[in-house]
Amino acid sequence: MKSVIAIAGAVAAGAALAVSAVPAGAAPAAHAPGGKGPTISKEAFGRLPDGTAVDRYTLANGRGARVRILTYGGIVQTLEVPDRHGRSGNVVLGFPTLQDYVDKNGGPYFGALIGRYANRIAKGRFTLDGKRYQLAVNNGPNSLHGGLKGFDKRVWRAEPVRTNGTVGLRLDYTSEDGEENYPGTLDTTVTYTLTGDNELRIGYRATTDKATVVNLTNHSYFNLAGEGTGDVYDHRLQLDASRYTPVDSTQIPTGALDPVKGTPFDFTRPRAIGERIRDNDPQLLIGHGYDHNFVLDQRRPGTLTRAARVTEPRTGRVLEVSTTQPGVQLYTANFLDGTLAGTSGRVYRQGDAFCLETQHFPDSPNHPAFPSTVLRPGETFEATTVYAFSTH
Ligand code: GLA
Repeated sequence: MKSVIAIAGAVAAGAALAVSAVPAGAAPAAHAPGGKGPTISKEAFGRLPDGTAVDRYTLANGRGARVRILTYGGIVQTLEVPDRHGRSGNVVLGFPTLQDYVDKNGGPYFGALIGRYANRIAKGRFTLDGKRYQLAVNNGPNSLHGGLKGFDKRVWRAEPVRTNGTVGLRLDYTSEDGEENYPGTLDTTVTYTLTGDNELRIGYRATTDKATVVNLTNHSYFNLAGEGTGDVYDHRLQLDASRYTPVDSTQIPTGALDPVKGTPFDFTRPRAIGERIRDNDPQLLIGHGYDHNFVLDQRRPGTLTRAARVTEPRTGRVLEVSTTQPGVQLYTANFLDGTLAGTSGRVYRQGDAFCLETQHFPDSPNHPAFPSTVLRPGETFEATTVYAFSTH
């Protein structure tokens, strides 16, 4: 499971930026107007119940894009990009305070880094080199998103980086051997980079000292019309996937790679997300909408390839997702039910966002035919995903 990562070398070589500490509660600097260079600032965001300090970094590219990232869970709290008139708006769901994330993000995982294993492992069990592992079961009969205290709930070490006119944040987390019952000490680095072209690049890297399994992703919820503006059913989605992995009643892949042709899962040509979401389709009923892994076409291991393109008619915003990963989970925020108020104080309801979680396939440790998620000592897991914003 080796894949080349374009940005890793550059990041490692990047010199750390001077970071100006901003007092808690102070407004972070707005993006530099008039084509000034990229900026990064840091402020205290709060403390966890155990006293651990959490920081928030604000990265701006001087061209209308700005992203706020928390050291808690590596969470993308806000992501502002211009619409077709050049007006910036926040296009991801989130919460205003650290306390909200601690209390409420266990369900939705807004913006968070997910590990060690994104998505589900059946019954929380897998066997590796003849040894059986039992993970916490936290989603029906299965393990979801790394267990009880996954990477989304850890505090990451943060280091600003700058490369060729871009600004970035390198996050590191060492997951101890046996954490959440996964074998091996997993050293994980995730680097967020905001480019001058309004791209948010995410580089993932992990090494281990014992054979283990790993599947890393980011769980951002996008609404290109703006966070809190309602559902995304009129966004048009194109997915470069002619197959997907159907699931059983507990959302574990059956093992089949089914063609999407002729089904509500066919996004090979641009279609409104909501066009067939209410079809009486057994897979849509299981997921309460789309909550499925798509098998990306034309993968060359390690090569960044387009996975998806989404356009929003009213604001003209466009999101293109490219990745080195073999799969992507399309999740249409089916479990948001009007019980959470977000960053701007608006209440989130079902369908108010879409997630495109680039990943290895769910439950791969129990499906030898799926691309392997096994990582061994001496190997490096590397992956890159790019969320590129533009307008049409
Ligand atoms: C993934 C899962 C969903 C749901 C969300 C978080 O997308 O596949 O079923 O758990 O994460 O709420």
